[in-house]
Amino acid sequence: MNWNQWREKARKQLMDGIAPAEAAWSENPAFEFAVMQRKPLVKPVIPKEFLDIAPLIAAARDPGRWNLLYRLVYRLNHENNHLLNIVTDTDVRRAMDLVKSVRKDIHKMHAFVRFKKIIIDGQESYIAWHKTEHLIMELGAPFFMRRFSDKPWSIFSPDASAHWNLKELTYAKGMAEHEFKHEDDFDEVWKTYYKSIFNPARLNLKMMKQEMSPKYWSSMPETALIHELVREVPQRLQMMATAPQVRAEVPKNISVDKMKELSKKCSVCPWAQHATQTVFGEGPLNAKIMIVGEQPGSEEDIAGHTFVGPAGRVFSEIMKELGLKRESAYITNAVKHYKWTPSEDGKARIHKKPSGTDMHACKPWLEAEIAAVKPKVIIALGATAATSILGRLVKINEARERIVQNNSFAPNIIISWHPSAILRAFDKNDAIEKRAQLKSDLERAFLLANAPSPSPYP
Ligand code: URA
Repeated sequence: MNWNQWREKARKQLMDGIAPAEAAWSENPAFEFAVMQRKPLVKPVIPKEFLDIAPLIAAARDPGRWNLLYRLVYRLNHENNHLLNIVTDTDVRRAMDLVKSVRKDIHKMHAFVRFKKIIIDGQESYIAWHKTEHLIMELGAPFFMRRFSDKPWSIFSPDASAHWNLKELTYAKGMAEHEFKHEDDFDEVWKTYYKSIFNPARLNLKMMKQEMSPKYWSSMPETALIHELVREVPQRLQMMATAPQVRAEVPKNISVDKMKELSKKCSVCPWAQHATQTVFGEGPLNAKIMIVGEQPGSEEDIAGHTFVGPAGRVFSEIMKELGLKRESAYITNAVKHYKWTPSEDGKARIHKKPSGTDMHACKPWLEAEIAAVKPKVIIALGATAATSILGRLVKINEARERIVQNNSFAPNIIISWHPSAILRAFDKNDAIEKRAQLKSDLERAFLLANAPSPSPYP
């Protein structure tokens, strides 16, 4: 049975009022009393939250999954249509555990599949073998179709296989590892790439083993390199320390308008080619206060303006409550391009945090903006902005307590929560607390910016 077959059958059984205990996939035999207690439904309701997770549960390698799905859908219709919010419920908990495990397996498939080039009838094609924990081929393979759309490829696992012929993606039966034959030149290409991205400063063998479970090692050419790379660590660290890093080149003493114009063509970071546009800072050029965020989000990337998406709306709301105008501050970001990755279904762009290299590449733009605006106070929102400005990692809950003075960028630097930390808070109380703290930090920053010098603040 697959997810679509289950769906069809489940709808019919729900309409006939068949209880989970007597459903076709039940592990229990059908009882007379269950038949007598049937509760037919004219139109079963399948909430979107259920449809979002059900295909993942259907892909779990768990013989009880069809039964679990039916119990959930039955209970959603007969017991509580908000059942999925009850995280303490045994069925909901089991469902969430399966969803988590399947998602992790899909993520591993995306990270660990390694294609090998083969020539079939003079045609170049790519094949890979990957062992999945769950039955995720149909959930995991579309990602590769988007990534490698211009080459025909096949992915095999013991349970199923996926085949892209440049026009359509089809699925067929799987293949055991020992049946999988290939020529080997792709390994060399992959090893060179891996070596080029290998960062010895991040070397942590224990973590590496955790991330790349030994289960996948046999099909990953780069694992053959690990011992060699470990031996090379001191040399590579030395090379990294002396190698010039890529940074935007910004001419000295240019106006913000000129910066804006030049930054449109900036392509030093890889994200420039995936973003819609460069989103540069905006606001009065004599602003006393500069607000620095992380990077444009999806909405900012499309609109070309800073802080206009969900986090921006939280920020604007707080400013309004404080009686402050957004337009009175210069608002910018540590990184000027939206960094994102496609969602599993390819329909959405998922935000990716800028790396140290991204911050480093973009920092000359921020430095140039600060040099031109000369704010009295910079308020850095979130860890990326704080790290970029202070040049070191900070914990926001500790750093927000004090004002950093005598920094080369501005007389006063205040660190606070990024508004998105409120949107991603653990729970309601956490969100309330972070929002109140951001509000009080913004108020403090504006008071300080407008206070006659010397500042009344310690
Ligand atoms: N988050 C940011 O850090 N900056 C924006 O411009 C929008 C969201």
